[in-house]
Amino acid sequence: MTQYYSIQGGRRLEGTVTISGAKNAAVAIIPAAVLAGECCILENLPAIQDVQTLKHILSRMGAQVDFTRGDCMRVDPTAIHTVDATFPEVSAMRASYYLLGAMLGAYGEVELALPGGCVIGPRPIDQHIKGLRALGANVYIDESRNVVRAQASKLRGAEIFFDLVSVGATINLMLAACKAEGQTVLQNVAKEPHVVDVANFLNMMGASIKGAGTDVIRIQGRKKLHGCSYAVIPDQIETGTYMIAAAATRGDVIIKNVIPTHMEAITAKLLESGAQIVEGDDGREFYLRVKMDGRPRGVNIKTAVYPGFPTDLQQPMMAYLTTASSNSVVVENIFENRFNHVKELRKMGASISVSKRTARIRGVEALRGADIHATDLRAGAALIVAGLSASGETKVRGVEYIDRGYEHLEHKFNALGASITRIEEEM
Ligand code: EPZ
Repeated sequence: MTQYYSIQGGRRLEGTVTISGAKNAAVAIIPAAVLAGECCILENLPAIQDVQTLKHILSRMGAQVDFTRGDCMRVDPTAIHTVDATFPEVSAMRASYYLLGAMLGAYGEVELALPGGCVIGPRPIDQHIKGLRALGANVYIDESRNVVRAQASKLRGAEIFFDLVSVGATINLMLAACKAEGQTVLQNVAKEPHVVDVANFLNMMGASIKGAGTDVIRIQGRKKLHGCSYAVIPDQIETGTYMIAAAATRGDVIIKNVIPTHMEAITAKLLESGAQIVEGDDGREFYLRVKMDGRPRGVNIKTAVYPGFPTDLQQPMMAYLTTASSNSVVVENIFENRFNHVKELRKMGASISVSKRTARIRGVEALRGADIHATDLRAGAALIVAGLSASGETKVRGVEYIDRGYEHLEHKFNALGASITRIEEEM
């Protein structure tokens, strides 16, 4: 059986939606919990496939991992009995690479299946390996088995200057370095909100990490960390997806449980395109209201590391811009191959030409429904946005990618007036 989404498009989104915990923070914080050596309670986790996969991975290694309620997980690593993480679930997701830093820090050893995840171009982990070696780990890639092995009798603090800004390498090095002897200085690091969230979690466990959110992170290693309770931040990319969908359907949506400062690059571009955006605080949480009338104006986007426009929203934003009243240019600076959604949008009537990392969009009056295929998570989000705004029925295949990162997507959109049905069909 496979599943696809059937979307009856052309409905204006209206109402209120609440954002879930951040996927890219959660997928680092769950493996990071093994560093505590004691039980941790993780709250505000999104109900997504990647979280389930990590639960299975840690459980298979001996940890006791349970959901105590929908969004709350208890991770007790004390019974972990193996450093072997070479089974298939590990290579099924990219973020399993956080077990490198976490297991090295906690147990001095790990053997890990090389990470898979979304197909968005080559995604090397050379910066992770360079950093871990600088801390004194022996890291060896066994290409015949597609496995990376890392071992260190003792991790020692070091100065590491990354060759490029990498979210994964920054977080992995924070994980290992918080148990290394002495001080580690990480330079040219990623500043994404989830990097700061992971640092806050580690500090709650007794680590000493300063500077997360700036270009330099200083970590004073600790012999021992301890358990804690921690609530994950709201998802910046899920927030952006609903902001863009609201504008794409010429809707009026209040998006709750958000951190508006994390959204500034997206807010700026949506405002430039003609959307109205209001930031508010209802006394309990921050919200954003996004309202749009008529066709947007074309805008130019260049993806960049935080606080620039996030690569993860490039694809949904492009779907929105396909019906702009003027042309747009989108430059993808982070990943080499993140235009897989373009050919699908063209099936819906979009006019987009691509040359290397640049896409030029000639706005058309409207999109029409089509049978289209998501090839990765955010391509899936783009096709959902396109389907919601198109006339007629759109079938979006590749639902398994979307399930990796969006909690209850069809329920949340349908509560805003969309019509999305998950359909099972024989293969
Ligand atoms: C994280 O991936 C996110 N994944 C991605 O989200 C996100 O697109 C990306 O950061 C950029 O913000 C998780 O957090 C699990 P990078 P990551 O290391 O860590 C190159 C989504 O849809 N690079 O910051 O893998 C790399 O090839 C996903 O939610 C090296 O060359 O991204 C890329 O071009 C997809 N060597 C650039 O750096 C390295 O050792 C940025 O990658 C590491 C990275």
